[in-house]
Amino acid sequence: IPVQPFDYVVFGATGDLTRRKLVPALYHRFMDGQFDEQSRIIGASRSKLSDADFRQQVREALEQFVEKDYQDPDTIERFINICSYVPVDASKPAEAGDLGAALRDDPEVVRAFYLAVAPDLFEPIAEYLHKKKLYRRDARVVIEKPLGHDLASSVEINNGVAKIFKEDQVYRIDHYLGKETVQNLLALRFANTLFEPVWNSAHIDHVQLTVAESVGAGTRGYYDESGALRDMIQNHMLQLLCLVAMEPPASDDSDALRDEKLKVLRALRPIANGEVAAKTVRGQYRGVKSETASVAGYQDELPEDKKGSRTETFVALKVEVENWRWAGVPFYMRTGKRMAERVSEICIQFKPIPHSIFDHAEGAPRPNKLIIRLQPDEGVKLTMMIKDPGPGGMRLREVPLNLSFAETFTERTPEAYERLLMDVIRGSQTLFMRRDELEAAWAWIDPIREAWNRSSEPPQTYTAGTWGPTGAVALIERDGRTWYEGP
Ligand code: BG6
Repeated sequence: IPVQPFDYVVFGATGDLTRRKLVPALYHRFMDGQFDEQSRIIGASRSKLSDADFRQQVREALEQFVEKDYQDPDTIERFINICSYVPVDASKPAEAGDLGAALRDDPEVVRAFYLAVAPDLFEPIAEYLHKKKLYRRDARVVIEKPLGHDLASSVEINNGVAKIFKEDQVYRIDHYLGKETVQNLLALRFANTLFEPVWNSAHIDHVQLTVAESVGAGTRGYYDESGALRDMIQNHMLQLLCLVAMEPPASDDSDALRDEKLKVLRALRPIANGEVAAKTVRGQYRGVKSETASVAGYQDELPEDKKGSRTETFVALKVEVENWRWAGVPFYMRTGKRMAERVSEICIQFKPIPHSIFDHAEGAPRPNKLIIRLQPDEGVKLTMMIKDPGPGGMRLREVPLNLSFAETFTERTPEAYERLLMDVIRGSQTLFMRRDELEAAWAWIDPIREAWNRSSEPPQTYTAGTWGPTGAVALIERDGRTWYEGP
């Protein structure tokens, strides 16, 4: 469905996020006809580029980051023609180009500002827009992490933006919410009658959330200041937890859904100082050298001045949601870099059957598991116990009911940013984090980070290409459970 015509201003137009994600995402939406030449994309940054220079950058980004099958020369030309550029340095308004001249003063044209820049520039840019009379009450501003490194800095960033923009104009991106399979969690839970009646502590034993990546992190400039807790848990993984744990919202209204997520964040049992050792594990990968493979460790990848860093590249947590639905149901989370494979999945493990009539059967009944695979090979799997076919008596076997997205759907799956960038134009904030959610997440994260900082223990090391440190295995095995590791 086409969206209203828009003027999308992208600050940080020469940066990595713009090249890798925003430009390709807008191109795909353009290619699919979701918008056309009535819309404009306006790059803005401190660099003194001309329209032609910027268009060349857009062309290169498309060549590099759009799959060859989708690089259609005619569409690329048309797309490039709606791109233009204005040099803007918010701290030197006198030298800035005329952004106002590039924007249309038409209420039918949606005005959106994407701030793909460091957060210390959010406030100056917002003030610049206001001063230049480019702010409109119906304009939208898009911001993205890092939205702070703790609660205090996050409040400061939000306050800075709020000086100009009202909360209903602010779109805080967590790109996990734009992923198709993450949205599918909502469909799975609230468009089927089957799951909701058993979605509680009477039937669910525990939940596991895994976001494992095979890539390393030591060469990523920002990572050492951040670490896995801030980079992945505070945002993406807590958002996943919220979607699994929240009560059914009354409607798909943005605030109805975000109110429910907020309640989950507020119900998270704080991991108090004395519990940090038992409920959290941090790890850092070390390199491997063998005849067949050689992978550098985190320390080896760091520049000289950062060597000796205690930044965690892996975190495992035991999290509890203190409310009626989830009392006594732990949520185990783990995420890390340089793990055995790239996989993100949620495993809902149901309780064992209350009484088995198959005591003499081979293969004792095992509890059902619902596995929601977010990436790669997106799909949903429900493990069931069935009778092994044949006359050999009652032998039981665990077999999955398997829904593979790739086999079921032939359409291309849009990238998270495609959905999110268009939702901004549609004015739908459902898949964006509200300020109170963000701050509740930080308020829960901060004490963990502070306890780690006080501790003299360094992160446990784990070998690159494995499932993390032994402490993570112990964390779940202490409770008589194990991490789900497929198939
Ligand atoms: C980003 C993190 O938000 O998400 C990165 O900063 C991480 O460290 C990335 O690699 C993972 O995203 P995806 O979409 O590849 O799972």
